[in-house]
Amino acid sequence: MQPKLEILILAAGKGTRMRSDLPKVLHKLAGKPLLGHVVDNAHALGAAQTCVVYGFGGEAVPQALADDKLTFVLQAQQHGTGHAVQQALPALADDSVTLVLYGDVPLTHTATLHPLVAAAQSGKLGLLTVTLADPSGYGRIVREHGKVTRIVEHKDATDAERAIAEVNTGILAVATRHLKQWIATLKNDNAQGEYYLTDIIARAVADGVAIETHQPASEWEVLGVNSKAQLAQLERIHQNEIAQALLEAGVTLADPARLDVRGSLNCGRDVSIDVNCVFEGKVLLGDGVQVGANCVLRNATIAAGTRIDAFTLIDDAAIGEANRLGPFSRIRPGTVLARDVHVGNFVEIKNSQIDDGSKINHLSYVGDTTMGKKVNIGAGTITCNYDGANKHRTVIGDDVFVGSDTQLVAPVSVGNGATLGAGTTLTRDAPAGELTLSRAKQTTIPGWKRPVKLKKES
Ligand code: UD1
Ligand code: CA
Repeated sequence: MQPKLEILILAAGKGTRMRSDLPKVLHKLAGKPLLGHVVDNAHALGAAQTCVVYGFGGEAVPQALADDKLTFVLQAQQHGTGHAVQQALPALADDSVTLVLYGDVPLTHTATLHPLVAAAQSGKLGLLTVTLADPSGYGRIVREHGKVTRIVEHKDATDAERAIAEVNTGILAVATRHLKQWIATLKNDNAQGEYYLTDIIARAVADGVAIETHQPASEWEVLGVNSKAQLAQLERIHQNEIAQALLEAGVTLADPARLDVRGSLNCGRDVSIDVNCVFEGKVLLGDGVQVGANCVLRNATIAAGTRIDAFTLIDDAAIGEANRLGPFSRIRPGTVLARDVHVGNFVEIKNSQIDDGSKINHLSYVGDTTMGKKVNIGAGTITCNYDGANKHRTVIGDDVFVGSDTQLVAPVSVGNGATLGAGTTLTRDAPAGELTLSRAKQTTIPGWKRPVKLKKES
């Protein structure tokens, strides 16, 4: 039987260059903490246990990832990567293999990690290295006759060693019992006075454990985040990767460089997305959906054939087929729009169900409302759902016509086929099929004159 995989994520570093009170690994990339991306990888690799070594920022790290079924180990003081691993060793099983990942390296593909795990499971040490144009600062991979013999940290390296372009990514996998043996022998007699995890490479070689190196398909897979500039750089790389995958799947993007996906975006056939749209959480766009420029969609389902015009915000809502939304619409949580619904500019809809063919085209607030089919809501209509203490529902039947500038003071209902005259303040139920009005009768005062401005005497 293959030894089971346990994953160790080092995340105790302070990240001074982030210039932030938030622990580095909790800064977000694509809307998710850096550490969250690494944890997702650990889960995708099927780790039997994932252990996170945290330190700086106290309990903020375990609190932020409380739902992720992780083992947390505190490294109260950071004495180096070897010391960090040492803190977690008691939590790891002797008969497992350990894959070491870094909480601030978010974009590694699982396909890059598989061969390292396989190497460890076959008794070797799998080491992820990368060859860089500028290797300065990194640990260098020292080889003799092509075989890795040790890693030397930049600060401890000779000029000749500093000329080596192949560097250590920090990511490695090995049998846990070896890790336990070797870590116990680490010393901190080096330029930084730290316990270096990298020193285990020479130990492995001495014990006859073969070192098998692999390189990532792209350099950015192993880039870490140490500053806001690097965070922004990795965000762009990640967003570009998402955009390319969408293009590959047949989605039309007006500009792949002006799209932000912070979560999952699933699209049907012939979907098109204009510039500067942001998708958060879980978003589904059905066949033929068109999204105009500058829209924000969060946890939303948009059914086939719907067109969303510019500057529309949809949050936690289900939009049916062949709808027309926007420009400048705001759809808030709990809203369900059926088929062929039109929602126009400066219309806000909250926690409402709107049935087929109904139209709310201009300047309205519809909240806590159940609306039937083929209703026409005039400009400036407001459902007054809040009495200052409680929320109440408005129920509107089918084929209702609501005149402009109407207020429906909930709880109130409007029967099928009813008409409400413009300017009505509806405080009692309106019967089906009838015209209901509340405005005062129009009068004209004959001969009335506007006041004139009095001339000041100088
Ligand atoms: C480390 C490697 C170096 C490699 C480089 C890649 C060592 C000794 N050196 O260097 O060979 O090229 O990564 O970026 O391993 N951490 C802890 N506790 C600690 C120290 C570090 O959790 O006491 C964590 C950090 O949060 C970070 C990771 O380990 O996620 C790497 O730490 P960092 O200080 O960036 O390592 P380097 O010394 O730069
Ligand atoms: Ca580093």
